Order: sequence, then structure tokens, then C-alpha cells
Amino acid sequence: MKKILVTGAGGYIGSVLVPKLLSNNYEVVAVDRFFFGDDKSVQNKNLQVIKDDSRKLTKAAFKDIDAVIDLVAISNDPSAELFKRQTIEINAESRIHTATLAKECGVRQYILPSSASIYGYHAEILDETNPTNPLTVYAKANEQAELGVLLLADEKFTVTVVRQATIYGLSPRMRFYLAVNGMTYGCYTNKKLPLMRDGSQYRPMLHIQDTTDMFCLLLETDPSKINNEIFNVGSAHHNFQIKDLATEIVTLVSDFMQEKIEIEWYGDPDIRSYRLSFDKIETTLGWKAKHTIKDGVIEILDALKSGTLQKDDSTITLEWYQQLVEWHKRIKEIEKYGGILDIE
Ligand SMILES: NC(=O)c1ccc[n+]([C@@H]2O[C@H](COP(=O)([O-])OP(=O)(O)OC[C@H]3O[C@@H](n4cnc5c(N)ncnc54)[C@H](O)[C@@H]3O)[C@@H](O)[C@H]2O)c1
Repeated sequence: MKKILVTGAGGYIGSVLVPKLLSNNYEVVAVDRFFFGDDKSVQNKNLQVIKDDSRKLTKAAFKDIDAVIDLVAISNDPSAELFKRQTIEINAESRIHTATLAKECGVRQYILPSSASIYGYHAEILDETNPTNPLTVYAKANEQAELGVLLLADEKFTVTVVRQATIYGLSPRMRFYLAVNGMTYGCYTNKKLPLMRDGSQYRPMLHIQDTTDMFCLLLETDPSKINNEIFNVGSAHHNFQIKDLATEIVTLVSDFMQEKIEIEWYGDPDIRSYRLSFDKIETTLGWKAKHTIKDGVIEILDALKSGTLQKDDSTITLEWYQQLVEWHKRIKEIEKYGGILDIE
């Protein structure tokens, strides 16, 4: 039984990936601060949880580990702009440190879940050989991490970078700020689809079940195909212009709810726009994304309708981190004798 260490295991992707790894007969060591709560975590005899900061990991965490999937991150542009230093520390430096420790401890494989946003703005369709153009702190930290971890690749340590498209679909730790998820929620609750200006920007999309399947596939792939390699992960027919994505979601939700949905514009024009080629992952690994926008939208609508999914503050990453920092400040100001109303 292979043992996989997953950082950021309690996040949007990690909360889907960890149960999938367990059901595929892996042992999992889940590392996370659980900023978004650990109430969604599964209980399993093959799951060990390390509730710690990725910046403080030591060699002890890597005992008997076969592979690392390093999901940990401050995971979007607005949060990274607000917490710049921490984003470089967590998304870049801690991941290079984790890969270094893993290699020193004899771990055989390391996977860096990077982001397609590293391409920033490009008019043409890009593959992995095109230059990157990171425009934000989040994208720059991913680039720094990519360069750092790839330097560690050798015949005993397989390193793979995956540049994921923007993810959509249902997860126990939901993120409603992501394009498809946010549009679907806006339509369902307000009958208005929030659309970021000016809608002409291209953005590739990828279902959460597809990206987690891809991680599982990498764990079983011959190292010679993936060592020291970068893969764009997504699919050619999911290279959306945001306004076309919005039109598709408006139609899907209107049909589902039998109600008219309007577009509600927001924000300044988005400076990021990129379309990607996904030929490399298809030809090298025979991997293709299987899920559609319709799959993601309908599963979210079903969950909202049945009441199993709600939007709370923790589903909007930036607002949640801001709130945690503010509460921490207030609690420190008023805490006495180890408590607030109860004291020790
Ligand atoms: N979701 C997407 O659309 C998308 C697209 C491309 C790439 N990615 C990348 O995939 C990875 C996972 O994304 P996600 O959507 O699951 O993000 P997420 O924000 O939902 O999860 C990140 C997890 O990391 C944890 N964390 C943050 N800082 C930590 C620290 N210092 N120590 C320990 N734990 C810490 C958080 O508690 C959270 O559970 C990230 O690297 C992200 O950049 C995501």
C-alpha cells in the first residue's frame, strides 16, 4: 500500500482528493492548518492528520512516504495580493522546502499543483514550451515554486508540475469565488449571474473530479514519462471566453429553475486572459478531462436545492482569511486567563 502525503488536504481540491486516494487503497497523511475547518474531513483507519503549518514541516512527516502532492497555498489572486509575504512563504518557499525534505528522506515522487494563471495574458494558444507571464503575486509565487522544485528532479526523485485550469464543481470545502461555482450560485440565489468585465477574457476550466483523477493517474505513471515535466491540465473544448461560459450557465440554470436569469457585471476589466493547449497530457498520458460544465452546474444546483450545500463566509477565501486575522486580533485583546467568558 503506497503512502501519500497531501498538503492543503482540507482545501477545495484536497477534500475531494483525500477520500479518492483512500478509496483507491492509498494510505494518506493529510497536512493542513484547516483554516476552513476540519469538520468536513473523513475518518479512515488509513488516514493520518498532521494539523500543522507547511512552513514548519520536519523530516518526521516524511517517514515511509512514497509520494507528496503539495496542494498547500494561499489560493487566489485577491488573497495573495493582501497577504503578499505569506503567499511567497507558503506557495513558493514552503513547497520548495517540502520537496527538499521529501527528497532527503528518500520519497520517490513529488507533484506540484501549479496554476494555468502563470500564463497571465497571451493572445495565442499556449503550450508548456511558451514563456510564462505571471501578472499577480499568486502567479509569481507559483512560478518560483515551479522553478525551485524542478531543480530537485533526478533519477531517484520524480518531480512533476501540473498547471491546472480554473477548477469547478462540488467539494465538501466549497469555493464560491471560482468562476463556474460563483456564477451558478448567483443565478440560483439572486437570479443574476455575476460576470467579470469585460467578458472577452479567455480562461480554461476543469472539473474537480477530473483534476483529482489526474493526480491519481500521476501516482501510477512510469516516472520516465513525467519526471522533470510540466503539464497543462484541462481540455481544449473548455477554453472559454468568460461571456460564452456565462451564456451556457444562464441557459443551464434557466432550464433547471424555469426562471429568467440576468447578467450582472462587476469589477474592472480582467487583465488575465489565456487559452491553452492540452495536447501534451493527452499524448503522453492518454489523459482527457471527462466532465462538462453541465455536470458541474447541475451538481451544484442539486446540492443547493436539497440544502446539502450552503454558502457561508468560509466559502469566499479572501473574506474568510480577513475575518480570521481580525478575530485573532480581537481575541488576543480581550482574552484573560486562557478564555473569554470561561477562564481556567
Ligand atoms: N481551485 C482552483 O481553481 C485552482 C486552479 C489552479 C491551481 N490551484 C492550486 O491547487 C492548490 C489547491 O487549491 P484549492 O482550491 O484546494 O485551495 P484551498 O484554498 O481550498 O486549499 C488550500 C488549503 O491549504 C491550507 N493552508 C494554507 N496555508 C497553509 C499553511 N501555511 N500550512 C498548512 N495549511 C495551509 C488551507 O487551510 C486550505 O485547506 C493550490 O496550490 C492552488 O493554487 C487551484
